[in-house]
Amino acid sequence: MSVKATIDGQEVTVPEGTSILDACTQLGTDIPTFCYGPTITPANACRVCMVEVEGSRVLVPSCSRALEEGMVVKTGTERAEHSRRLVLELLGSASELDRSSDEVHGWIEEYGADSSRFGPDAETVAQPAKVQDDLYVRDYERCILCYKCVDACGVDHQNTFAITVAGRGFDAHISTEFDVTLPDSACVYCGNCIAVCPTGALEGKIAWDMKEAGTWDADAQEVTRTVCSYCGVGCNLDIHTQDGRIVDVTSPLDHEVTLGNLCIKGRFGWSFVHAGASEPEGAAGGTGS
Ligand code: SF4
Ligand code: SF4
Ligand code: FES
Repeated sequence: MSVKATIDGQEVTVPEGTSILDACTQLGTDIPTFCYGPTITPANACRVCMVEVEGSRVLVPSCSRALEEGMVVKTGTERAEHSRRLVLELLGSASELDRSSDEVHGWIEEYGADSSRFGPDAETVAQPAKVQDDLYVRDYERCILCYKCVDACGVDHQNTFAITVAGRGFDAHISTEFDVTLPDSACVYCGNCIAVCPTGALEGKIAWDMKEAGTWDADAQEVTRTVCSYCGVGCNLDIHTQDGRIVDVTSPLDHEVTLGNLCIKGRFGWSFVHAGASEPEGAAGGTGS
């Protein structure tokens, strides 16, 4: 079954169940998102993807609402854009968005989002980063509570349930069970939470160290696609190298088998490649393997 609707005056026909966001993407209309991800069930948490739907009193989250037959959607109205700008400003006032993707920085610029207008006394989630092992860092002053890591660790991918949201209101935060350290938690260090985090709140240790030291240079990096050799599953690996050194390993989100997921060996088990050599400039410690 398919549904026919109108988006910004253009007729669109999509399979039943397609989200408004996916239909917009099909038309080439860019809508900002944080809690949406192509491999994750949208948590409908950030509300930055709002659009207007004719006949609806309130704005509608495009990531989690399906396009319906005869729907008339408007994405670029003043009301929708005002709402997106405000969400970007509020998130930026409470959390550090400096290590978010280029896409996020592009939206902040496009919408003219100015978090500084809330003044220096705006409440923030500033806190020391949790550096508890050599593999990855949880830097929650950059967390916008989008729930993607929780879903990746839980029902969407890993089914380990090592992290969830604890606390209420502004005190809500991502936590291990009883806030124990990561090595003492149920975490299996797959790093699948890192893969979906949109803000850099979760990072591999070497990448985080280099960003702290200012030596991380994404433009100078090469990405080489290869196949993980640890077992017969054959996950695809994207090896990120800078100055001839591996600085990070990710997996393509659009791979139909793995959806960007890896296990601890594929994601972190590569420092032996550089055994005996010095660490990349700025990296304080290597990944263990
Ligand atoms: S590394 Fe894997 S197991 Fe650990 S918190 Fe992240 S998703 Fe969960
Ligand atoms: S740590 Fe990242 S993925 Fe997890 S809730 Fe915060 S911003 Fe989202
Ligand atoms: S991206 Fe739609 S609510 Fe977050």
